[in-house]
Parts: sequence; C-alpha cells; structure tokens
Amino acid sequence: MRLLAAIGVLAIIGVFGAALYFFGGFYSVAGTQEDPAIVHWALVQVRTASIVRHARDPQPADFDDPANVQKGAHEFDEHGCANCHGAPGGNWQKFSEGIHPDPPDLKDVVPERTPAQLFWVIKNGINMTGMPSFGPIGATDEDIWQIVAFLKKLPNVSEADYKAWTKPPAPPAPPAPPAAAPTPPPADAPATPPAQNQ
Ligand code: HEC
Repeated sequence: MRLLAAIGVLAIIGVFGAALYFFGGFYSVAGTQEDPAIVHWALVQVRTASIVRHARDPQPADFDDPANVQKGAHEFDEHGCANCHGAPGGNWQKFSEGIHPDPPDLKDVVPERTPAQLFWVIKNGINMTGMPSFGPIGATDEDIWQIVAFLKKLPNVSEADYKAWTKPPAPPAPPAPPAAAPTPPPADAPATPPAQNQ
C-alpha cells in the first residue's frame, strides 16, 4: 500500500515537473537546438510508421511513362521543391540549410520509398516540419503522380535533361502586323527596282 502511494506521489510530481518545464518556457523551441538521439530516433520511427499506414492511394497504371517523368520535372520546378531539396544541377536556397529537420536530398530518399508513400507525403506534407502539403495549395493528384514519376527516375536524371524538361515553353509567335497599304512613291522620286527576295 505504501509503495502504491509513493508511486502515485512520484507520478504527480513528474506531471507537475513536466508541465513546469514545458509551459514555464524552459524547453527551447530554437531550430538550432539539436534533438537528443532518442527524440530524433522516435521522430523518424513515428514519421515512417505514419506514412506507411496512411499511404494507400493506388498508383495509376501508366503514371511513370516518359511523358509523365518530363511533366513531373516541370511540376517539381513550378512548385518550388528545388528551393529546399535541390535538383540536378540546381542548388537549394541558402535558407533551406536553416530548416530543422533539414530537407533531405531526394536522390538518397526515393529508392527507399514506394510511389504511394511519395504521393502521400507530397499531397499531405509532414506536420511540424518545413515540408508543405501541396494538395490544398493547388497541386492536383495528376500533378503529384507526375512529380512521383520524376522522383522515381531522379537518381538517373542528368543536369541537361532537367534543364531541357523545365525550360519555359517558347512564347507564342507575335501576331502578324496588319498589311500596310502600299504608299505610292512621290512623283519626282527616282524609280527604285523592287526588292529581290532571296
Ligand atoms: C520549404 C521547404 C520545402 C519545400 C518547398 C519542399 N519540401 Fe519536401 N521536405 C522538406 C523537409 C524539411 C522535409 C523533411 C521532413 C522530416 O524530416 O520529417 C521534407 C521531406 C520530403 C519528403 C520525404 C522524405 C522522406 O524521408 O520520406 C519528400 C518525398 C519530399 N519532401 C518531397 C518534396 C517535393 C516533391 C516538393 C515539391 C512539390 C517538396 N518536397 C517541397 C522541406 C521542403
């Protein structure tokens, strides 16, 4: 009985201590603060387990055909992924080095993820990290599957391919100028021979 009472008292002290530590401002939320190894380990486990359980969307049959890989590179560029994650030949923005946890180099990550897992992460984001949820901000499922198709090929995409696939489309040709009415030469001008088309 005494033992139980002692455990109860310790538990109450523990709860009050934790409340004081967190709500009293003693815990630092600084992004420069390294996580203790156990916290880092727990975060990775929780994130991985959550993604594995939630990633249930079936991948479209032809999602990774070459046209989709190229469109995916374009979407990747348009949505600003390279600012944080880098891209073939294009470096990340300096600010991304200040994000904690840091945005991984996707080349290293994608071989370990299924297409459905990549799709889920891009659509829903990762809470309490810098990884945005792109679904609610205008990326359609089709756009996201194209990005996944591109990511799956990312380890083999050259800088030249990435450049070619993300360059802006050529501007539309300007409308032809209205045909000007020919002005008759002044009466006293010397006659000029008509310009020759070569
Ligand atoms: C503002 C910075 C930022 C932008 C923009 C961003 N990400 Fe991320 N992303 C992150 C961070 C930070 C993480 C790591 C989260 C973590 O460690 O839990 C991450 C994680 C990921 C992961 C998961 C990696 C894993 O371990 O499973 C994928 C996939 C990913 N991002 C793809 C993308 C794609 C595709 C885009 C563009 C559509 C994008 N990200 C845009 C910051 C960003």
